[in-house]
Amino acid sequence: MNTQPSRSIEQLVEGVLTSDGAGVKLTRVLTGKLQRRLDPFLMLDAFGSDDPDEYIAGFPDHPHRGFETVTYMLAGKMRHKDSAGHEGLLQNGGVQWMTAGRGVIHSEIPEQEEGVMEGFQLWLNLPATQKMKPAWYRDFPTEAIPEYTSANGVTVRVIAGQSNGVAGVITRDTTEPIYLDVHLPAGANFQTDIPVTHNAFIYVYRGTVAIGETQVDSRRMGILSNDADSVALTATSDARLILVAGCPLKEPIVQYGPFVMNTQEEIHQALDDYRNGRFI
Ligand code: CO
Repeated sequence: MNTQPSRSIEQLVEGVLTSDGAGVKLTRVLTGKLQRRLDPFLMLDAFGSDDPDEYIAGFPDHPHRGFETVTYMLAGKMRHKDSAGHEGLLQNGGVQWMTAGRGVIHSEIPEQEEGVMEGFQLWLNLPATQKMKPAWYRDFPTEAIPEYTSANGVTVRVIAGQSNGVAGVITRDTTEPIYLDVHLPAGANFQTDIPVTHNAFIYVYRGTVAIGETQVDSRRMGILSNDADSVALTATSDARLILVAGCPLKEPIVQYGPFVMNTQEEIHQALDDYRNGRFI
């Protein structure tokens, strides 16, 4: 029995429809104005379409510096190539974790001409001391993602951090991210610990759930209050959601497109390094 008080929903957020890359339609759920509230997370994009015109052009070569990108593919096939020589095919249920560090140029191009392409890209900030570390990249196919199913039929895929004693494929010091994909049958409860220091949110991508008195519908983000060390929720219909939490860095955030540093000077340096071919 859970006797801990649960975090509650502090704010509901509806994403903004936009396009990025060479014209990929997506919903930007975590936008710039939430970067302080949800520190260390900088961005969350949700993409999902069965219309190839909305995804086929993909994301041709573009740079990143100063943070990490986490792509979680629910359905579809996307090929990644980068300037550090990494290449991988990201597909159904797989995760790609890329630490841009001091700089990487990469492309993400769909390897399908029809069917559904659905998933998320999350940007996780790096602390000032790690922004210029070498780029790093790993692909985790779906079978590599640890999963558990509770007695009431809730299945939890643990991408990062841990949940109810099950550790994910990725751990990070400093930001200590937790990234779960939770599938609930209607009526089921789910509870997991989140350190009280962590900023946290859920994003519901199927069905509806309730936290306390607040219902969170499909395609809504619920920002969780920072007043308890766990969260408990109930599915009001068959539901799927991601739960994301991390320890805030509390450092200045200066973003210019795909570069996220601590000062304007560092942004100018990033642009200069990129234009002069110093991104590897
Ligand atoms: Co990118």
